[in-house]
Amino acid sequence: MSDPSRPVRTAAVIPAAGRGVRLGPGTPKALRTLGGTPMLVHAVRAMAASRAVSLIVVVAPPDGAAEVGRLLHEHPLAERTDLVVVPGGQTRQESVQLGLAALPDTIEVVLVHDAARPLVPADTVDAVVAAVRAGAPAVVPALPLADTVKQVEPQPPGTPEPVVGTPERALLRAVQTPQGFDLATLRKAHDIVVEGEGATDDAGLVERLGSPVVVVPGHEEAFKVTRPLDLVLAEAVLARRRATDGYV
Ligand code: CTP
Ligand code: MG
Repeated sequence: MSDPSRPVRTAAVIPAAGRGVRLGPGTPKALRTLGGTPMLVHAVRAMAASRAVSLIVVVAPPDGAAEVGRLLHEHPLAERTDLVVVPGGQTRQESVQLGLAALPDTIEVVLVHDAARPLVPADTVDAVVAAVRAGAPAVVPALPLADTVKQVEPQPPGTPEPVVGTPERALLRAVQTPQGFDLATLRKAHDIVVEGEGATDDAGLVERLGSPVVVVPGHEEAFKVTRPLDLVLAEAVLARRRATDGYV
């Protein structure tokens, strides 16, 4: 339990309420196992590994909060990290909003981290926190792209898509999580945005506020488990860590 004399300042919200449709039928994605441990547990441990994080809010599938609570109880964290589970919503944006609503006013900095990025290294988390604490209202870890990107006019499946442009690859970054924010800024960004406008990340909402967003280096192991092949990669990364640095 938390020590009331110690103010909680940095929290992590972990949206984990998605079904994982692109991964194929089965258990909700965050509850599928990697190396025998649910993906969500890896993600929670990754946030708890940052000494700055003293509270973690897990946003569970709407009908699965009790099950997630039990699961996390079976995988306890070090004492310095508090854990809260809340039910999520129909979209990621809604789930993040429900997570933010559960944060006490003592929190000043918040990380938003996809449960679907279970293997983000602690150094990446720390770098995001450090950049927010240094004064950036919104910080995003990101990597340069390997592939060239084309902008197209989307067509129905089976119809070739006309290319309308090729952005200069050196100017592009693929963004990851955890994204870090001054909490007041992120709350304001979520308040003004209309549900269903299709923002795919939280930093995008802050951009619409007109507040600055900065990028820090991401990490290739912070990739998102989206499709079945990503599970193969995640298992391989996990096996390598277990063999070389005793990761559990
Ligand atoms: N998420 C959420 N609530 C939703 C939808 C998504 O909390 N209603 C979370 C997911 O659990 C995931 C993160 O947002 O940790 C990133 O979303 P994504 O990778 O798209 O996961 P899913 O939505 O579960 O996958 P899919 O889009 O393939 O169904
Ligand atoms: Mg999704």
